[in-house]
Amino acid sequence: MKNPVMPASGTFGAGREYSELMDINRLGALVAKTVTLKPRDGNIPPRLCEVSSGMLNSIGLQNEGIDHFLKHDFPFMKEFDVPVIINIAGNSLEEYAQLCREIDRVEGVSGIELNISCPNIKAGGIAFGASSKLAEQVTAAARYNTQLPLIVKLTPNVYNISKIARAVTSAGADAISLINTMVGMSIDTNTFKPNLGNITGGLSGPAIKPIAVRMVWEVAQSVKIPIIGIGGISNALDAVEFFLAGATAVAVGTANFINPLTMTDIISGLEAYLVDKGFTDIGQIIGKVKT
Ligand code: FUM
Repeated sequence: MKNPVMPASGTFGAGREYSELMDINRLGALVAKTVTLKPRDGNIPPRLCEVSSGMLNSIGLQNEGIDHFLKHDFPFMKEFDVPVIINIAGNSLEEYAQLCREIDRVEGVSGIELNISCPNIKAGGIAFGASSKLAEQVTAAARYNTQLPLIVKLTPNVYNISKIARAVTSAGADAISLINTMVGMSIDTNTFKPNLGNITGGLSGPAIKPIAVRMVWEVAQSVKIPIIGIGGISNALDAVEFFLAGATAVAVGTANFINPLTMTDIISGLEAYLVDKGFTDIGQIIGKVKT
């Protein structure tokens, strides 16, 4: 990676729309929207809702399936001079394993991110990420079926995230990304109905940043593998907080919807911050919070 800034899966599609607005070659990596074995229609609308300092989503992992992704989206993504990470989710251990086997055969993939943290689906997703035993099993199943760098994306909807981080590390994860969204709900005060068709959804944006920073800090004390910090990052100083907490890279999600140039602004802002503070390498601030 030429820098430690990438999009958070699900907020950037395959990059097609953003490629018309920004220079994708400036990014540290590209991370695709979660892909599953078979196509998924997703949840009933409305699927998005703005809330104070953030948004709720209940997309339900809508996607066209791995075959379509590898034929239509991956070729577009790999044209850029940027490593491509494919994010996957399954309903069962075997589905995660099969996705890893299929992706392992594809030339030009730089890594796989296991989504074991989506809060918007009935089977799979968070059900794997909320149990250290299942998180370990699904990571082991993926590890067995791919040689590619394996990132496991954790849910914040647990009491002890360090326990889950240790479980996936012992099962062979090469890196951890955290956090996915917090389960939330919003109600229309005129109709008395939930604002999302799925009733609940995942909260993202600045509202969750302090939770994400705390969890990155906790996980950084517990495991030695690299951490990708995610959660409400909107500017370079937000990103710096994650590096100080122990992240070695960051992913930007909701802020891309407000300003599609957020990530390139953060890359420039991080460079300016390091120069201003007299540092020559981002590594000099990683984990350097003074507690
Ligand atoms: O509903 C969704 O597609 C969200 C996915 C996620 O949070 O991982």
